[in-house]
Amino acid sequence: MSTPEPPRVEVLHGVNLNLLGERDPLHYGTLTLADLEAQIASWAQAEGLNMSFFQTNAESEYVERLHALRGKVDGVILNPGAWSHYAYAIHDALELTGLPAVEVHLSDVQSREPWRRLSVIGDLCLATYSGKGPEGYRLALQRIRQTLDEAGA
Ligand code: DQA
Repeated sequence: MSTPEPPRVEVLHGVNLNLLGERDPLHYGTLTLADLEAQIASWAQAEGLNMSFFQTNAESEYVERLHALRGKVDGVILNPGAWSHYAYAIHDALELTGLPAVEVHLSDVQSREPWRRLSVIGDLCLATYSGKGPEGYRLALQRIRQTLDEAGA
């Protein structure tokens, strides 16, 4: 019998996250996006998950990526950046995927400006990890792994 393929999970980084490493280190730490993705990939390996990554500064590309992921991955981790707080098109695109999803923010969005407190995708997500830095992505991987295990994936 052949070994089953590991479940596939994609991390979708949104607007301005390409500039991690140059953004305010008090909120976002010092890792670059490449550093962060390497860290996530090593955690994913330990969880037995097959990772892919996507980043864009164009909301339409983010929406189109969600469309393209339908039926192609088993879970998604989203940090849409500032879009998290107002981009309802991303809510609707995520809903269309029907995928298990977790929201991550590096910074603690609840303790910053009031406009960051609203998440337009939170209601579709299994969990939201905010203010835990890169560790939030590890928790998100574990949450998705747990959900897939419970579903027998
Ligand atoms: C962020 C928080 C957002 O409010 C902000 O606009 C970002 C990054 C975070 O990871 O903490 O760009 O999503």
